[in-house]
Amino acid sequence: MTKAARGSLLGIEQLRAEEIAGLLKLARRMNPQKTRPLLRGKRVLLLFYEPSTRTRSSFEIAATSLGAITTLVQSSGSSIEKGESLLDTGYTLHGLGADVIVIRHPNAGAPLLMAQHLDIPVINAGDGMHEHPSQALLDAYTIVRHKKALKGLHVAIIGDIYHSRVARSAIHLLSKFGAMITLCGPPEFLPEVAATLAPGLHITRTVEDAIRGVDVIMLLRVQKERLAGMKISLQDYIARYQVTMARLKLAKKDALLMHPGPIIRGLELTGEVADCPQSVIVEEVRNGVPVRMAILARALGRAR
Ligand code: NCD
Repeated sequence: MTKAARGSLLGIEQLRAEEIAGLLKLARRMNPQKTRPLLRGKRVLLLFYEPSTRTRSSFEIAATSLGAITTLVQSSGSSIEKGESLLDTGYTLHGLGADVIVIRHPNAGAPLLMAQHLDIPVINAGDGMHEHPSQALLDAYTIVRHKKALKGLHVAIIGDIYHSRVARSAIHLLSKFGAMITLCGPPEFLPEVAATLAPGLHITRTVEDAIRGVDVIMLLRVQKERLAGMKISLQDYIARYQVTMARLKLAKKDALLMHPGPIIRGLELTGEVADCPQSVIVEEVRNGVPVRMAILARALGRAR
């Protein structure tokens, strides 16, 4: 197999715990408020084949906070619409002088393919149902700010596990650091393979069992079309799995409530839960900036 370009971030699975800890430490030293010209003159290409609000804008803010220049290429309005292949788009962006490519793509493995063919670092901003490493890193950063360490923490991940790249990356990261993970969701969204992803994974049938006594509740987005596709009614999902204030009270008193966004109030959680003091949903978004600054600095060899 061709080697991926140095500095690439393709997933959490292949990172060692020390590398993750190093990135989180570097993120703590980043200050988005103070422009630091660590990446002055560097070109960060943001290549987005799927919609994104948080990930795209925080990579953009992270890059400009480090003095880099960003260019956004989206599938609509570019030659991608005309059928240009992923690699040809990559070669074009490389030819234009990109120093690093941040890519979101509906197919698992698209960032790896690009990293194997270009000699510049590639950062995975979410690939299909595979991984979303920067999200897992910002979630770990957020948890550690509140709970000091990940080891021994009990984390419940609730929702559509099967389709979620956020869940996959989080499971890899949390298990590398010795957290206990409980998965919960409709059985259609909880494939057996989930149990083989990492040691120490538990699956519970009821949301009450999943939440009871945990330190962190991590919710996932649930798409109405996917519920319909699995013949699960919206009412049924809400009745069984929605996190309400009553259910939240089953967790530890100081448990964190997390969600990668976009949230749908009234589906995965109630509006009251989204806005309650235990919710760190907005903080996760905020923490995305220093974490992505660290990812970009590492990619371009400026991680000092
Ligand atoms: C997630 C994504 O796109 O993977 N959102 C995000 O990046 N914050 C979650 C999702 O859309 O389900």
